Amino acid sequence: MSTPAILVENVTVHYGEVLALDSASLTVDAARICGLIGMNGSGKSTLFKVIMGMIKPDAGRVLIGGQSPTKARKEGGIGYVPQSEDVDWQFPLSVRDVVMMGRYGHQGFTRHPSKADRSAVDQALDRVELGEYAERQIGQLSGGQKKRAFVARGIAQGATMMLLDEPFAGVDKRSEATITRLLRELASDGCTILISTHDLHALPGLCDEAVLLMRRVLMHGAPEQVLQPENLAMAFGLDVLNRDLPEPDHPAAVVHPAAVVHPAAGASATTESRG
Ligand SMILES: Nc1ncnc2c1ncn2[C@@H]1O[C@H](COP(=O)(O)OP(=O)(O)OP(=O)(O)O)[C@@H](O)[C@H]1O
Ligand SMILES: [Mg+2]
Repeated sequence: MSTPAILVENVTVHYGEVLALDSASLTVDAARICGLIGMNGSGKSTLFKVIMGMIKPDAGRVLIGGQSPTKARKEGGIGYVPQSEDVDWQFPLSVRDVVMMGRYGHQGFTRHPSKADRSAVDQALDRVELGEYAERQIGQLSGGQKKRAFVARGIAQGATMMLLDEPFAGVDKRSEATITRLLRELASDGCTILISTHDLHALPGLCDEAVLLMRRVLMHGAPEQVLQPENLAMAFGLDVLNRDLPEPDHPAAVVHPAAVVHPAAGASATTESRG
């Protein structure tokens, strides 16, 4: 059997008293697009941070292509598009600077960009259609453009895995289509993609497989199967079971904590919404 691109085994993470991941296990094969869904506070961002090696689990293990997350990250294998709330948008970096960060692993100690670095950055910016915004401060882009800048950073880096934490939040249809097309292209080039989203309608068109998270992996399978009402009820609460999925473009198509009446059965720690 080939080594999975992502192996998460019985991973538990606490933030103080809060149990964010509770023996979560997940395996994703290379070149797959895997969608991660779950209510606010279900541990999606924490799972990304564990896979990135930014958080060390209290228990369990994570292997990226058979090696530790820290090593995979240092080797530039993992591209990360963080949730907007996790980024300091005031930081004085241009869009080009952000994308150039993807080249740090290719640069020497001096971090002086070579011709190859500059060319990789230009190509990545073109690929996400942000060439004309290269010199703009990163915080002065629209929501969708910011996401595309981070995707460009992963492309410039030559990442073989992309982790995207809610790349469609606050993003218009054009940016969403651009990002979706890019992800498909990257996956067909062999890149493994893990993407969290609250847009359940977009899931079947976007992903090869889907994961339902509620501190642990409740379900992992084909998107259509995971989106069955009884599975959504398990993860989001009974309210979702009692109505059809809203149409795309309808505001309610994004599952909001206010729509959740009952927390998932068996949930042990408090779930909070943190936007
Ligand atoms: N730095 C932190 N310190 C303390 N608790 C945290 C921290 N980060 C997350 N948590 C808590 O851990 C739990 C999981 O949070 P996480 O951000 O992983 O959820 P999420 O599924 O990404 O939610 P959302 O859909 O709102 O982005 C939540 O209860 C949250 O309040
Ligand atoms: Mg999150």
